[in-house]
Amino acid sequence: MRINSPKLNLIYKVCMKASKSLIRDFGEIENLQVSSKGPGDFVTSADKRTEKIIVNELLNAYPDYGILSEEIGTVNEKNKDNRWIIDPIDGTSNFLNGIPHFSISIGYEENNSIKCGLIFDPIKNELFFAEKGSGAFMNNSRIRVSKKKNLKESILATGGPKYSSKIKNIILDEYSYVSKNISIPIRKFGSASLDIANVACGRFDGFWQRELSYWDIAAAEIILKEAGGFIENLTPKENELNKSSIIASNSLIHDDLIKLINKKNIE
Ligand code: IPD
Ligand code: CA
Ligand code: CA
Repeated sequence: MRINSPKLNLIYKVCMKASKSLIRDFGEIENLQVSSKGPGDFVTSADKRTEKIIVNELLNAYPDYGILSEEIGTVNEKNKDNRWIIDPIDGTSNFLNGIPHFSISIGYEENNSIKCGLIFDPIKNELFFAEKGSGAFMNNSRIRVSKKKNLKESILATGGPKYSSKIKNIILDEYSYVSKNISIPIRKFGSASLDIANVACGRFDGFWQRELSYWDIAAAEIILKEAGGFIENLTPKENELNKSSIIASNSLIHDDLIKLINKKNIE
């Protein structure tokens, strides 16, 4: 494992510790699914347990650093120069239903820019990580985005809309426009961080989604960029309230994918 910097080394150790408890909790899900209470509350506490381990370890190492984490929100809010961005379980619905596809995602941000990050899929034992200027890796191997130039030969991923979405119709309309106008596979695997990591290692060629949160994409951003990919905000649409609508790709199909999503002709 080529981890050189102290920050990346720290989040690696913290993530490995938290993942042990998460794997144990995932092992319980099957039993809970057949119980009358169901796994709902248990999953909420698994999420919080994982988060607690990560937050405590990071605060131990750097007591003054800021934290933005999905369940607890912010810690040391005043420190905006050094922040950890955490999603303790990305892919909660998968976790809840015993589907082995979810991750722990941790990014480190300095002066508004992500410096390093990791995404760990504890069931497949795949660790994606990157540090600015040092390339991106999955376990012991350097990863690169795919070389596909033609959108018509690509495989894409997307996600959403959430049940509570205020722009549900826009999202569904966009999805059906893209699927009608290009006959390529579009996957919805339910973990945005892993979707982007999978673009970074060339399994998918592109990904887009509206209404994501910063903790879904912070670590993924640096991993994708270091793997040669491109990620940016989608042009906001009328009525759109949430700014975290993103498009991520291998760079080569990027312009065509944006055109398609914005309902413009591609060659
Ligand atoms: C969700 C996953 C999912 C995406 C949702 C996210 P969570 O995160 O990343 O793929 O479609 O928008 O909220 O709730 O599992 O941490
Ligand atoms: Ca998430
Ligand atoms: Ca989550």
